[in-house]
Amino acid sequence: MSKQYQQDNLIGQSNALLEVLEHVSKVAPLSKPVLIIGERGTGKELIAERLHYLSARWDQSFIKLNCSSLSENLLESELFGHESGAFTGAKGKHEGRFERADGGTLFLDELANTSGLIQEKLLRVIEYGEFERVGGSKTVQSDVRLICAANEDLPALAETGEFRADLLDRLAFDVITLPPLRSRTEDIMPLAEHFAISMARQLGLEYFGGFGAIAIEQLMMHDWPGNIRELKNVVERSVYREGSEGQEIDHIILDPFASPYRPLSRIKTRERQVRPVEPVMDKPELDVGKNETTIVQNSLEFPINFKEYTENAEVTLLQRALAEGQYNQKKTADLLGLSYHQLRGILKKYNLLDKS
Ligand SMILES: Nc1ncnc2c1ncn2[C@@H]1O[C@H](COP(=O)(O)OP(=O)(O)OP(=O)(O)O)[C@@H](O)[C@H]1O
Ligand SMILES: [Mg+2]
Repeated sequence: MSKQYQQDNLIGQSNALLEVLEHVSKVAPLSKPVLIIGERGTGKELIAERLHYLSARWDQSFIKLNCSSLSENLLESELFGHESGAFTGAKGKHEGRFERADGGTLFLDELANTSGLIQEKLLRVIEYGEFERVGGSKTVQSDVRLICAANEDLPALAETGEFRADLLDRLAFDVITLPPLRSRTEDIMPLAEHFAISMARQLGLEYFGGFGAIAIEQLMMHDWPGNIRELKNVVERSVYREGSEGQEIDHIILDPFASPYRPLSRIKTRERQVRPVEPVMDKPELDVGKNETTIVQNSLEFPINFKEYTENAEVTLLQRALAEGQYNQKKTADLLGLSYHQLRGILKKYNLLDKS
């Protein structure tokens, strides 16, 4: 993979992202460990790759390992390798990731929950550049640039003793924190277009017909808890379900589970009984689990433009109800406790009439 390819692959023009990219370019050439912190789906793996391809090690191996998916024993032998017969089933010598990444970069993802034993061995390998394979006594040398990622607050874990503070110090020569998508909303549409175009290409469409006004509003108003990965899924799903040759995407299918036949969640119903009023969130979310319609909200930031906010809330509510009612206006009106004519009046006000 060339440096150019990497550059083209990373979409975004927000200041928050540009600052991160500048930071990445600065620290990439050093052979020091770097820690990447960010919520799920913010692009940690992509940034780790970029650090590698912008370093002098770019033509050597870039080896990855997700530490959360393996038991302690397996993780130990995956990282450091094992000698023949080291444990039951250990047939033949096995080279660990540290050996395979020699001269290159090792990316350890989801490092936060590794055991004390693994953390101790990591500390040693960082400190002395050497380790022993499981079941072996021979010391193996390895020159590896370590990049680690976590979506948890490692300093907090170090304070409570759940993560070794001395290891954290060594891993965190520098820390790159990736901003969540909701704090770089300028990146939403360029990313959405990028994912839509590549999905259209995969589907063999000649070109992508663009997003309609409602779809754009939906994309811009969503909170994106799953960040870029969620945006990618949502856009790809909408293009494949709604996009035909040259056709504009009118609606975004944010929730693939949305269906009038979806079973009610027992947990949700119980939660609501003990917690009648939720703190407030950036945008209202329609909770359709019960008979009465509840707007659940949390973490509002003032000042707020009341008119704009309530209008946005109404549009979101209408869109969700329309989707729930499968764009049948009679059904949608029933879902909202409105008459058919009342609903049409409101849809007209928001220019949603021809879209439903
Ligand atoms: N700036 C970007 N431009 C284009 N695609 C991006 C960008 N950032 C992330 N992606 C894409 O979003 C998806 C998620 O990115 P990635 O796997 O790097 O996130 P992550 O932080 O490692 O997620 P997780 O914590 O869930 O492992 C990938 O498909 C990646 O290619
Ligand atoms: Mg990842």
